[in-house]
Amino acid sequence: MSQSKPPFEVLLDRDTLLRKTAELGREILSAYPDPSSLVVVSIIEGARIFCRELMRHLPAGLEVHEIRASSYGAGTVSAGRVEVSGGDGIDCAGRTVLLVEDIVDTGRTIDRLRAHFLGAGAARVAVVTLLTKPSRREVDVAIEHHGFEIDDHFVIGFGMDVAGRYRELPEIVLYDEAVEAEFFGGAMRVAE
Ligand code: IMP
Repeated sequence: MSQSKPPFEVLLDRDTLLRKTAELGREILSAYPDPSSLVVVSIIEGARIFCRELMRHLPAGLEVHEIRASSYGAGTVSAGRVEVSGGDGIDCAGRTVLLVEDIVDTGRTIDRLRAHFLGAGAARVAVVTLLTKPSRREVDVAIEHHGFEIDDHFVIGFGMDVAGRYRELPEIVLYDEAVEAEFFGGAMRVAE
């Protein structure tokens, strides 16, 4: 039975996402010839699904951790301030930290986490993100590996949410409040 959901416009279908993730896995393998020296850090919640998929293309047994970073609250506009929590036990001293992100928007999250891990003694911090929105950048951050550049859309699915919703969608779609409201008869609203 297929899932009942608002008819959001699909930006990237599942096959395209899985193919690109495999490609990023190959790119990482060639960029870090000894991947066992990496500390992989998934930025949750959004990057969880992408990271799980990416790990299928890297050697088994890599050290993977999660760290929580949030700046959006319940809406679709960044609050500007990045709160970091978790990740206390990560031993990154002298190692390369590979941050796994779902989407880089203003760049604040990556900027904050890069400083966090360099401050904790990492030799290097590199970033792999599935999506990037260059037109939204406010902080000039280096992104070593990216899947797709997208325009200034708010997207959901494949782990990305709006107020905790739609992470489970298998593809990436354009969030549209009007489409959602019509589908649910106006019963569901997004918190500002
Ligand atoms: P930044 O700090 O502004 O670069 O924002 C990065 C974080 O904001 C990502 O990890 C996402 O959690 C969230 N984010 C940014 N754009 C979107 C979007 O279009 N959909 C869902 N989450 C987003």
